[in-house]
Amino acid sequence: MTLSTSDIEHFTSIVGADFMYLSAHEKFERYTHDETEDLRFEPSIVLLPKDAHQISAILSYCNRTKIPVTTRGAGTGLSGGALASEGGVLLSTERLNNILEINDRNGYVITEPAVITEVLQDTLKQRGWFYPPDPASRGSCFIGGNVAENSGGPKAVKYGVVKDYVLNLEIVLPDGAIIWTGANVIKNATGYNLTQLIVGSEGTLAVITKIVLKIIPHPRFDVLLLAPFQSATDACAAVASVFSAGITPSAMEFMERDAIEWAMKFTGSTMTLPDSIQAHLLIELDGSDLDILMAEAERVSIELEKHHCGELLFADHAQQKSELWKLRRSVAEAVKANSVYKEEDTVVPRAHLPELLQTVKQIGLKYGFQSVCYGHAGDGNLHVNIIKGNLSDPIWHDTLPKAISELFTEVVRLGGTLSGEHGIGLVQKNYMPIALNQVQLSIMKKIKLAFDPNNILNPNKIFPDR
Ligand code: LAC
Ligand code: ZN
Repeated sequence: MTLSTSDIEHFTSIVGADFMYLSAHEKFERYTHDETEDLRFEPSIVLLPKDAHQISAILSYCNRTKIPVTTRGAGTGLSGGALASEGGVLLSTERLNNILEINDRNGYVITEPAVITEVLQDTLKQRGWFYPPDPASRGSCFIGGNVAENSGGPKAVKYGVVKDYVLNLEIVLPDGAIIWTGANVIKNATGYNLTQLIVGSEGTLAVITKIVLKIIPHPRFDVLLLAPFQSATDACAAVASVFSAGITPSAMEFMERDAIEWAMKFTGSTMTLPDSIQAHLLIELDGSDLDILMAEAERVSIELEKHHCGELLFADHAQQKSELWKLRRSVAEAVKANSVYKEEDTVVPRAHLPELLQTVKQIGLKYGFQSVCYGHAGDGNLHVNIIKGNLSDPIWHDTLPKAISELFTEVVRLGGTLSGEHGIGLVQKNYMPIALNQVQLSIMKKIKLAFDPNNILNPNKIFPDR
């Protein structure tokens, strides 16, 4: 869409000429993509408001003039949520980047949305506090994007995902109203849960301007184990056994051989990988008593041995731990560096992980694609990376959606769903009817309209075209 001169003048009067970029600006390009595949969309203008009042003024103008508004944090998303696919305003939250209050007595932190997740976590840790949700991109993603996507990460298996920490939000509605969604309390049984409606709503209902997060005491110790398996299916099957034995690791990650091999190449790791090893589990246990953790690690190893795991690597010093975590956190980037790819963020009840992995490989054989799988095994959350490699464009664009539909159908049959933590955004929206029927979708659409009657906020996301 094309903006009029008066639109641009109006935006200038709100944010100032230094805080808006048109396409000729040297900084414009970075706002045309996020981390989703190789997708690119140009907004009509990029605006960098400084606070909720400027955001309110932008939204109420766009609501009157029906200009689409796509909110963007750090642009690390993997489902295209921050792509201005309909043009219009790309609203970057990057200037709202302060931690406002760490409330030690009540156990919460109030932050603006553009604080980098790792910065928030490190700041809290210095005061003994823990905010667990830790997406792989935590070194660059914004906490606001994490809330908008209901992100997870490795620690979700023990500590839960973002939704389990958000107590209250300040949001701006399309008509410009600025409201709080709840209260800064652990318990809240006061009407509908507006806070949780906004969490994971992918910028389609409101713009988040302040976030209140529950914080918990930081665990004192952690131990990390790397378990090799000759069979990827055995590795997946071992996952449920560990939980059935009464142990909840603070992370339980799965990496297929290609995933760890590509990450090793990408990070320049010198670790060796015997030919026979097809998959690894990376298992972390944490707590406040090291003796208990060691005893738990022993019990974990007994369960893993039942599933034919090889020799365990026990990471006993900080550097080794951080190398292993670096490898795990680099897989997505390593895959991206290797080939164009599509990522499916499948999730099933964890005991069905072996069937899910087998299904992925069977569908791959049927349609002739290679896949690299890894993810948060303890959550049953498998990131399936379908590699373009030598596949032709027609197969990639026309045939692959059929294969993905088959995969999602099976995921739903196994009791799972389309996305565990990356959201639906642009790239998964046409698969929504596989997971949700017309009644469910229609309730969601009515919620969207109640917040955003003119459909200005992140239009063309989440809901299928048809
Ligand atoms: C990960 C991101 C891609 O788990 O979710 O690495
Ligand atoms: Zn993940």
